[in-house]
Amino acid sequence: MQQFQWLPEFETGIDVIDSQHQRIFEYLLEVDTAIRMQSHESIKEVVHSLIDYSISHNAFEETLMERADYPILAAHAKVHEAFRNRALSYEHRIENGEDCLKVAKEVRSDIGLWLTNHIQRDDKDYVPYVKKSLEGGFVSRMKKRFFA
Ligand SMILES: [Fe+2]
Repeated sequence: MQQFQWLPEFETGIDVIDSQHQRIFEYLLEVDTAIRMQSHESIKEVVHSLIDYSISHNAFEETLMERADYPILAAHAKVHEAFRNRALSYEHRIENGEDCLKVAKEVRSDIGLWLTNHIQRDDKDYVPYVKKSLEGGFVSRMKKRFFA
């Protein structure tokens, strides 16, 4: 099985985003462990957590992009929406009684690859916009605090 792990080149420099991306890679490792243990209960639980967390993370990113007036937010959100539909379809397959070991193997490869590509292409693109908007907020808060 191809291993998916967080690498320094995935760093965006936006701490909150980097720690969320790292958490998703931790969930991927937890899925691998559950697959190795062949524990159906753990597999179901950790696959659910991985999917749930990834969808929340994408929504969080969209909030930051919106705040930053990111010009291609709509396109990025479409990519997230397609991911969401695919991720939820895995959950439905498990709920409908499909072999969760088989589904979990697909989930870890699909989400692992998706995340690796998405971080390096789509996410990297919004970084300067979001960074700027976060800095702006910080600077204006500091100004109010010191010069009000
Ligand atoms: Fe994204």
